[in-house]
Amino acid sequence: MQQAIAVLDSGVGGLTVVKEVMRQLPQEKVIYFGDTARSPYGPRPPEEVRMFTRQIIDYLLKFNPKMIVIACNTATAVAIEEIRARVSIPVIGVISPGARAAIKSTKSGVVGVIGTEGTIRSQAYEYALQSISPSIHVLSEPCSLLAPFVEKGLFHADEADTIVEQSLRPLIGKPIDCLILGCTHYPFLTPAIARVMGPDVTLISSADETAREISTILYHRGLLAATGLLPIHQFFCSGEPKLFKQIAQMWLKEQISITPVVWQVPTII
Ligand code: DGL
Repeated sequence: MQQAIAVLDSGVGGLTVVKEVMRQLPQEKVIYFGDTARSPYGPRPPEEVRMFTRQIIDYLLKFNPKMIVIACNTATAVAIEEIRARVSIPVIGVISPGARAAIKSTKSGVVGVIGTEGTIRSQAYEYALQSISPSIHVLSEPCSLLAPFVEKGLFHADEADTIVEQSLRPLIGKPIDCLILGCTHYPFLTPAIARVMGPDVTLISSADETAREISTILYHRGLLAATGLLPIHQFFCSGEPKLFKQIAQMWLKEQISITPVVWQVPTII
């Protein structure tokens, strides 16, 4: 049986990475877990996010995947090292790929980062950017309203511009030439973010670079899927599946089926 790439997020955000994986690696089977019952992760304490991430990974490991992609910046920021130490397959996150993409893009050396409170508090982007290029100047801003807004499926609504404008106000007029969308939910809001930031600021989503990293790792380990029939992807979510399915189908532009998961262990909401 074809081994899958297992992708996880607190909700629909990781689908922005999945879409790019499907585009760059159409032969690869993806299994996706959106922890919608416990989204958002952004305001939660690191230990809780680590516990949720471990729990999802234990669930996904039952499918014998060949790689794990933590398509959630908040979970990547606090849990990736621990997860890497726990499992024997490659584990990649979205922060290093996003940082690399920003370093490639910036000319001014002043990079903006938006993310959840958890991601911004962790300073994971500062570390990732400055470990590649120590002179990079980083201006970061938590945008706690945006991921919950996307989870409601409202990204095309008129309120999108208003909420994005409010959230990004501290960065408007700052000398950044690129802005890292440091939460995988934010690419859903790209048109509104682009309108607010204007044409001189390049928006960086980690999805492209993450899919490229997945491709490189699978190639070097001889794990790329053999060419043949197109795979059937699997989607799981822990909350109400109807809206998740609508958002996923709209974003991925394909029909999917969702398997709801009810956590058997006590969960902290
Ligand atoms: N999509 C996630 C991230 O990249 C989490 C958003 C949230 O649940 O707060 O950080």
